[in-house]
Amino acid sequence: MSLQKSLVKIYRNNGLKAKLDSFTIHKDQCGPMVLDALILIKNDLDKTLAFRRSCREGICGSCAMNINGKNTLACLTPMTEKISIYPLPHMPVIKDLVCDMKQFYKQYSEIKPWLHTSKKDDTIEHIQTIEERRKLDGMYECILCACCSTSCPSYWWNSDQYLGPAVLMQAYRWIEDSRDENTEERMDFVNDAMKLYRCKTIMNCSNTCPKGLNPGQAIGKLKQKIEQSHSNESFFGRGNSA
Ligand code: SF4
Ligand code: SF4
Ligand code: FES
Repeated sequence: MSLQKSLVKIYRNNGLKAKLDSFTIHKDQCGPMVLDALILIKNDLDKTLAFRRSCREGICGSCAMNINGKNTLACLTPMTEKISIYPLPHMPVIKDLVCDMKQFYKQYSEIKPWLHTSKKDDTIEHIQTIEERRKLDGMYECILCACCSTSCPSYWWNSDQYLGPAVLMQAYRWIEDSRDENTEERMDFVNDAMKLYRCKTIMNCSNTCPKGLNPGQAIGKLKQKIEQSHSNESFFGRGNSA
């Protein structure tokens, strides 16, 4: 039987009190995705509803929220008969479904997510082999929606220090980039009991990623790479391992 109507329950929080509001949406009123329903509700039923969205295509990451118990993107989630929508868990709420992402972006900026190179001439290409480029697959596609980090119990309790899966995968993305010249510094930065080793391999992060990425696996590889580099150092002495 095709879906005729949906009962949509939405977490509301205006800074004074939190509550759930319910809306009934009929199939022919809007498009097929949860984001379509939110836009309809805001346009026609309650203009005070607050949520983020931009691309409507699973590219910008801004419509990340918790839908029927799973962190995901509203624009990629089809409507079902009953839908409950909450903000990303364990994040400070600014209003309704809008979280304060400052700490997440601050942590991202701390890993200096850009190419570090001594090449002064920016008209010269940074060449990679096909194999070198392939190492970035599964990481460069991250849209920084924070679904993974906000599904991670370690991040819930220690987000002041633990970098979380999204930022750690991006740290590893730059560590694996053959064109980048600060690999050692980047590894030193994340090699810390709180920043990295709060990851306990629970894998909530990989199970929830709406882009099908595997940040938990990337963290495992990052730990391995750091351990490998340390065992090389103790064998050869730092700086002589080449
Ligand atoms: S790894 Fe996936 S869930 Fe995490 S921020 Fe990137 S796209 Fe979002
Ligand atoms: S694998 Fe690590 S980062 Fe992912 S949810 Fe578990 S503890 Fe968090
Ligand atoms: S609106 Fe951009 S990812 Fe959903």
